[in-house]
Amino acid sequence: LKGIFAYLNYQVPRTRKEIFETLVKGLQRLEYRGYDSAGIAVDGPRKSTTDINSNAICLIKKKGKVKALDEELYKKDSLDLDEELCTHIGLAHTRWATHGEPSAVNSHPHRSDKDNGNKYKCTLMHITKGYEFESETDTEVIPKLIKYVYDNRENDSVTFSTLVERVIKQLEGAFALVFKSRHFPGEAVSTRRGSPLLIGVRSEHELSTENIPIQYNTHFKEGVQEKNSHNRLDGSTAINSVGDGRAVEYYFASDASAIIEHTNKVLYMEDDDIAVVTGGKLSIHRLKRQVGEDPVRAIQTLQMELQQIMKGNFEAFMQKEIFEQPESVVNTMRGRICFDSNTVILGGLKDHLKEIKRCKRLIVIGCGTSFHAAVATRQILEELTELPVMVELASDFLDRNTPVFRDDVCFFISQSGETADTLMALRYCKNHGALTVGITNTVGSSICRETDCGVHVNAGPEIGVASTKAYTSQFVALVMFALMMSEDRLSLQPRRLEIINGFRVLPELIKKVLSLDEKIRAIANELYQQKSLLVMGRGFNYATCLEGALKIKEITYMHSEGILAGELKHGPLALVDKDMPVIMIIMKDACYTKCQNALQQVTARSGRPIIICCQDDPEMTKNAYQTIELPHIVDCLQGILTVIPLQLLSFHLAVLRGYDVSSQHNLSLKLSL
Ligand code: F6R
Repeated sequence: LKGIFAYLNYQVPRTRKEIFETLVKGLQRLEYRGYDSAGIAVDGPRKSTTDINSNAICLIKKKGKVKALDEELYKKDSLDLDEELCTHIGLAHTRWATHGEPSAVNSHPHRSDKDNGNKYKCTLMHITKGYEFESETDTEVIPKLIKYVYDNRENDSVTFSTLVERVIKQLEGAFALVFKSRHFPGEAVSTRRGSPLLIGVRSEHELSTENIPIQYNTHFKEGVQEKNSHNRLDGSTAINSVGDGRAVEYYFASDASAIIEHTNKVLYMEDDDIAVVTGGKLSIHRLKRQVGEDPVRAIQTLQMELQQIMKGNFEAFMQKEIFEQPESVVNTMRGRICFDSNTVILGGLKDHLKEIKRCKRLIVIGCGTSFHAAVATRQILEELTELPVMVELASDFLDRNTPVFRDDVCFFISQSGETADTLMALRYCKNHGALTVGITNTVGSSICRETDCGVHVNAGPEIGVASTKAYTSQFVALVMFALMMSEDRLSLQPRRLEIINGFRVLPELIKKVLSLDEKIRAIANELYQQKSLLVMGRGFNYATCLEGALKIKEITYMHSEGILAGELKHGPLALVDKDMPVIMIIMKDACYTKCQNALQQVTARSGRPIIICCQDDPEMTKNAYQTIELPHIVDCLQGILTVIPLQLLSFHLAVLRGYDVSSQHNLSLKLSL
């Protein structure tokens, strides 16, 4: 997870200081995505005026904010800030740790090697999590690989882009990369797969073309190929590059927000495109042509404002994050669930699995939304682990001085990994000798560091005030844990398969739920002037009631209560009358009949329930004031789908009630920067 920014000035003299400023500004524009460390790479002082290759590349990296990196840049006495660099490529990166904790050494850019003369042969920008990478420094594999490819090249005419082509053929997983090399001064090569990357172009002159034809290596044959590559780049036969050798500047970024202030002319790269700038000209290459693919990349004119780019078309980060859930759950599952073999491996737990299996009890601890993720998955944890499972609010757990033993395994669920109560509960359990497991969204956070082992939920930075995508990812992570624990239990295989198949379709079903947004907004329109809102359900969907009510309270400042439907007759029914809005969750699972019973109690008191139910359930449509009909999924994952309408509802209610959901007041707090 990252922000990439690179700046190439060709025949545009810039001082090193100006280059620093541009790079830092680029990173600052990406700050809103959240990050924990940052770094840049620029050319160092030239050692020889005659040898163009004598430039050492200088890497400066720093844990923490971009501001800290900015200060660091000016501490380097060896760098002449006023030196003018007529043609230069500088790289910059912000990192949100997923592999390896945030630190200067784990920060990007990475280099291929550091030889005695401190000459960095090649520098690499970024790779996101790949399928098979388990090491702390997965990104570093790439500069090492390109150095290997460079050292083993067949002759000196092998181009920079060919080296990159050879490298990406070996890579699996998602990445976005920008390369610079002292062997190819003034040249940049960039490529992506699965992670976004775009290029901005700025020139005083009119661009030679706005549609760059892609150059294919279809007749790729070692040896012959180099000759072709040269032909491809000289542009003599057709206009196949942008720039004509006159002054031009290029900006590479993972996000348009870092480019828009320099130029609105941008080119969006597609997966496996290789963009090459050499001699100030930008061309696009691909290994081979695929059927039906667009053979040109157009330079578009962006009309967007900065704010709009950051939040996309969304009004607020919370809304954006709700809509990110089809992707964030995939990121949680990526490399962990193998849908071919129906197996689940959580890399961070596998070494402790034996010990965990021997335990007498699981205790799952968190606060707020993270606690609700524990409530949501308790039943499936009990079913698949066959262990007693306690779910605990961290504060209450501490207040009670809860007995904890050496043969307990304690889970700490936290988006930020810094919540004080959860952290104190962790230390308490450690002192009592229990094995501690962290389920966090923030690598390198305190909870992450202090637990014995853990799972990163990889939902991506959560900037919105209310937790949304982190909840569904925590949910997924805990169910994956239950699956991993039950792998060798023969009798549980059909159930496990049912759940893995549920995970397979989950992203698509989340999209279907999100498509109900308009309907939910209309319901919010009817409800927003109410004082209170009750949310009822039971079984696998009880946690959704608690979480939905928390979202409503937190964002809309409206009273809301999650009620266990089985408890209705023990008191809460007294609240129900024709004026009290009631949301009921009634899915076709083992609790269906019991929920129908609760529905009758509500209608008997003239309540007008809004029912979140399965598609095609005429019984519900008949009895409801309104229905929100959801696709069906295996019972223990249904809570992921039922919570989304309530996330959306709380968002719309807040907007209608006039609250500024987009306010970023929680930003620094949530990211714990
Ligand atoms: C609700 C919310 C909070 C957090 C709680 C725990 O939308 O954001 O209830 O869930 O403060 O925070 P973490 O998960 O960071 O430990």
